[in-house]
Amino acid sequence: AASGQPYRTAFHFQPPQNWMNDPNGQMWYNGVYHFFYQHNPFGPFFNIRMHWGHSVSQDLINWIHLDSAFTPIDPFDINGCWSGSATILPGNKPIMLYTGIDSENRQVQNLAVPKDLSDPYLKEWVKHGGNPVINLPEGIQPDDFRDPTTTWLQEDGKWRLLVGSQKDKTGIAFLYHSDDLVNWSKHDSPLHQVPGTGIWECPDFFPVWVDSMNGVDTSVMNPSNELKHVLKVGLQDQFKDYYVIGNYSPEKEHYVPEDELTLSSLRRDYGRYYASKSFFDPVKKRRIIMGWVHETDSEADAIAKGWAGVQSFPRSIWLDKNQKQLLQWPIEEIEMLHENKVSFQNKKLEGGSLHEIQGITASQADVKISFKLSNLEEVEELDPSWDDPQLICTESDASKKGKFGPFGLLALASNDLTEQTAIFFRVFQKNGRYVVVMCSDQSRSSTKNGIDKTSYGAFVDIDPQQDEILLRTLIDHSIVESFGGGGKTCITARVYPTLAIGGDARLFAFNHGTESVVISELSAWSLKKARFNKEKPSGVEI
Ligand code: FRU
Repeated sequence: AASGQPYRTAFHFQPPQNWMNDPNGQMWYNGVYHFFYQHNPFGPFFNIRMHWGHSVSQDLINWIHLDSAFTPIDPFDINGCWSGSATILPGNKPIMLYTGIDSENRQVQNLAVPKDLSDPYLKEWVKHGGNPVINLPEGIQPDDFRDPTTTWLQEDGKWRLLVGSQKDKTGIAFLYHSDDLVNWSKHDSPLHQVPGTGIWECPDFFPVWVDSMNGVDTSVMNPSNELKHVLKVGLQDQFKDYYVIGNYSPEKEHYVPEDELTLSSLRRDYGRYYASKSFFDPVKKRRIIMGWVHETDSEADAIAKGWAGVQSFPRSIWLDKNQKQLLQWPIEEIEMLHENKVSFQNKKLEGGSLHEIQGITASQADVKISFKLSNLEEVEELDPSWDDPQLICTESDASKKGKFGPFGLLALASNDLTEQTAIFFRVFQKNGRYVVVMCSDQSRSSTKNGIDKTSYGAFVDIDPQQDEILLRTLIDHSIVESFGGGGKTCITARVYPTLAIGGDARLFAFNHGTESVVISELSAWSLKKARFNKEKPSGVEI
């Protein structure tokens, strides 16, 4: 990181400067990955008059920043070009649907297409002359109607899409039909709605194979029950993304989640993470998801940095074998950045011990560690009233000794350990079953004041008697992105160390429990810096 900019990321996507929030319109088209994002080009703070930032990549690692794809200058989006999604139509034609805030401050949905399909970067986009293509429905507040999904085509020849909304605090995913992607009509009943959840932002609706890690394109039909459908929505009131898994029948236009969407539903990430959106990558037949990772420092800090907002590292996403939850894993392209591998096996970590992982750049690293536990009969009972894992992580932070745990990693640790971000596990039993809690404890992450140092926590659905406890953590200066249980539980945190920066940061495996644990395997790498270049006006990459 350049001096004076210790918090810029090396391999997590960021614009050159200023504000970024939601990922928008990701797609692969003719050899190029496109990433668009909610961008305020005029400062490191949110402003409703959003632009669509645009960057392209061959590998989802190295990026070229282009000019904004959409700017708010037309009557149907003059007050902001808000979030939306890409669809690649049959015949290999991309389209974009996005929310505009119109001249009357109403949220409407707009269509746009690339100006020149032979431009490999699709730099210029043409907004459709008939915009808006979807108007505010009757009875819906003007600021409660946004974020169209990728559209999907079914056997009846009709395209479908969802728009997030609410009515009287009931969160709604409105369903629309169209023959031509220009004329849309609202279906009588929404695809789904849940009372009391408030507005649903950035809905994401897609199929997953029941027995494969491969992704599925959004329009694939489901002849023999090989697919389930995931509905993810962002609850604005919570600033959290929740999802349900269910069965979708397009003939009946019916979506039935297996569990009701509630505030204790599954989450894509239990940390600082919102407005995520997935897309199908036809090259590697996978579904990839990115999410907005907001700052937790102050507005004054944002002004001083000149930027705010990063994206989570792209993750492959698929259905767990048990069909009960999604699994996520950093895309394999991360290996392009690996260097200086260190590894060891079968190392006992006595209760109360620390083991430094040396030989890598601890501020810019990829770490995989697995723990093996024995004598689990001795495990502590979980207080039955402790059903909120985030609360467990907050009350029992990394300094509180238990029996099995806390054990895990101390990332971005300063020499004297006054600064450290602890990602760790605790194991309990409850009603004769094991309970594994995963925590990301930011309470000592920085000596700086004025930062939100909230701790995060979630359960990991594994049986520690049979399975080793796996942790993978991506460390990138001001973001610590962790994958527990092989991708069952993800927790992303933002941190702003003042001592543990650049070459001064250290990394440890630790065990503050009284019982010993065995590190069955550790592999860690320094990560090279990804290239983030601005395109020169001539069209030549710098
Ligand atoms: C989610 C969101 C979307 C909206 C966009 C505006 O973070 O509020 O609902 O389209 O951000 O930037």
